[in-house]
Amino acid sequence: MIETVKTITELRRHLDQWRAGGETIGLVPTMGALHEGHLSLVRVARAKAGRTVATLFVNPAQFGEGEDFDQYPRDADDDAQKLENEGCDLLFRPAAEEIYPPGHVTRVTIERLGDILEGEFRPGFFAGVATVVTKLLLQALPDFAVFGEKDYQQLLVIRRLTRDLDIPVAIEAAPTVREDDGLALASRNAYLTSDEREIAPVLFGTLSQVAENVGRGASGNLRAEEQAAWGRDQLERAGFGKVEYFTVRDAETLEPVARASRPARVLAAAWLGKARLIDNVAV
Ligand code: PAF
Repeated sequence: MIETVKTITELRRHLDQWRAGGETIGLVPTMGALHEGHLSLVRVARAKAGRTVATLFVNPAQFGEGEDFDQYPRDADDDAQKLENEGCDLLFRPAAEEIYPPGHVTRVTIERLGDILEGEFRPGFFAGVATVVTKLLLQALPDFAVFGEKDYQQLLVIRRLTRDLDIPVAIEAAPTVREDDGLALASRNAYLTSDEREIAPVLFGTLSQVAENVGRGASGNLRAEEQAAWGRDQLERAGFGKVEYFTVRDAETLEPVARASRPARVLAAAWLGKARLIDNVAV
């Protein structure tokens, strides 16, 4: 079974040895409940690095009050087996006190980029993500770390913090892995009933349609707001509950766009039963 370490000291001991031997190190941070999406991140890391380290930590700081921290799917043995099968070299699985020892009060916040979209609907979420990712990057100091485009805003937040805090770790993006019908793989898809699972691919279908429509208007006015309103309506008609946002944004800053002078991204978050689904598509 894959070697598992639980303390920062043990983690650093392994990584120091590998670095001393001239090996490059790729890091794949996860909250477990691993699916093909996570395993694709491990494959990206293995293709680029001599050694791949995965982390498994269900980070309490990124769950708000009333969110699903207690229900979040956990199966550490199954995760370890999947990582072993992928040829991952080491698993870092710290306890909460290792990451947040008593008295820990420092938080990393990302102004503006961390306050909009996901940040608006999940206050404190990005401070939780940014704090734990900063710590994991500094604990491991890999050559690079891999994050999925499925959580597109998270990817941008992490790129921003590494630049702003001069953390010498490259951030690699991996494409979203989807079911055959387009639904993006996510640990929270486990909350969908079979009826909801039938409806769920409408999210990707609608995002793709809006991205195509907006892209076609590339030479002039994107009419992005009109397109986004159409997309929101499609989701509601299909049976989604609250659509928290459906929007066309600048692909780098996530600020609203009106014209196609720069790359754009269509992003949405919507509830389907007990599952909050998020997804995004490039224009
Ligand atoms: O995307 C996730 O699984 C988490 O937000 C991350 C990056 C592992 C931080 O806890």
